Amino acid sequence: MTSKHTAPSFQQVDIDLGDRSYGIVIGAGLLDAPESYAGLPSAASAMIVTNQTVGPLYRDRLVESLSSQYKVIHTVVLPDGEVHKTWESLNLIFDALLSHGCDRKTVLFALGGGVVGDVTGFAAASYMRGVPFVQVPTTLLAQVDSSVGGKTAINHPLGKNMIGAFYQPRRVLCDLDVLKTLPVRELSAGLAEVIKYGPIADMAFLDWTEANMDALMARDPGALAFAVRRSCEIKAGVVGQDERESGMRAILNFGHTFGHAIEAGMGYGAWLHGEAVGCGMVMAARLSAALGLVDDAFVERLTALVLRAGLPAVAPVLDARDNVGRYLELMRVDKKSEGGAIKFVVIDGPGRAVVRGAPDAMVARVIEASCRA
Ligand code: NAD
Ligand code: GLY
Repeated sequence: MTSKHTAPSFQQVDIDLGDRSYGIVIGAGLLDAPESYAGLPSAASAMIVTNQTVGPLYRDRLVESLSSQYKVIHTVVLPDGEVHKTWESLNLIFDALLSHGCDRKTVLFALGGGVVGDVTGFAAASYMRGVPFVQVPTTLLAQVDSSVGGKTAINHPLGKNMIGAFYQPRRVLCDLDVLKTLPVRELSAGLAEVIKYGPIADMAFLDWTEANMDALMARDPGALAFAVRRSCEIKAGVVGQDERESGMRAILNFGHTFGHAIEAGMGYGAWLHGEAVGCGMVMAARLSAALGLVDDAFVERLTALVLRAGLPAVAPVLDARDNVGRYLELMRVDKKSEGGAIKFVVIDGPGRAVVRGAPDAMVARVIEASCRA
């Protein structure tokens, strides 16, 4: 799948959303390739939003690449970390846009992982009621998931990703070379989202992920390229059918109901998002088994894969006095909840997921078993 914008060595996955369609370009070295930027909206100015870690590594190369297209290129550097996915970071972007006199055509470039991407996307959605933005994801998690599909958000102390908007980028540029500098713990976190796509949509991809887990952990370029492409194809297919999550898009949240409770309950940043999702998928698989939808062998298979990816499979105790109560309280804040009833993404047979509720007593048994597993 290549388009007129991509060099022959790059691949492109298209996300079909009518007049909001765009390409996800994947390849090694595309940060420096002029083809990556051809056809992006023209404007007098661009603004790169990055963070203290990624900025020093890749900002100058992005500035160099953009300089033939944009006369003025500003940069905002956010503090690093999930704990900074806040109003304060969002305001740093608005302060910079306004103080530099940026107009409605200014193009924002999100250079970083999912945190930078989600905050920048929300800033782009709301600055002057919407300016164009481009995702330049630099973590595996962002390349296989968060940069694609237009979910943007910041956290609220009472719940994760609670304030945000659906707002699509104009392009996603996944340079596989930047994954070389990613800390190993972050690589594992990204693999959680790669693992997710198999059970919910494509068992052949789960087989492939199992067969190639060692290569992925060793950052084999071919394995990473396929994992990013196939993940983006699956996500693009789901988002193309249900952009605003009125139904099936929720399956992309497999493991996230338990995972978000872990992230919030431990304090944002203590467990990485991908770590919480890895453990959350094991918990959701256990719940699927308790509901009689999959067998124990499926739970064991998924648990083994999560462990091979360097992810935790034993859930943390969130409250020594009332652990189950604390999990349930946190999960009731989940965006899938309806009237206080918690909804879970469960596996309804291999390669198929559904969203449904479960009795509190059953969920409690899953939590207890997962915390002592
Ligand atoms: P992150 O953005 O915090 O990045 C992880 C760490 O890696 C950070 O310290 C970052 O500075 C560093 N880093 C990034 N790229 C690097 C590189 N190339 N080399 C060295 N260090 C690098 O975390 P993440 O895992 O990318 O994203 C998690 C966030 O994504 C969460 O907030 C989650 O809610 C969100 N998310 C959003 C969606 C969505 O659809 N919008 C989907 C999944 C996750
Ligand atoms: N990561 C879930 C979604 O994009 O819908």
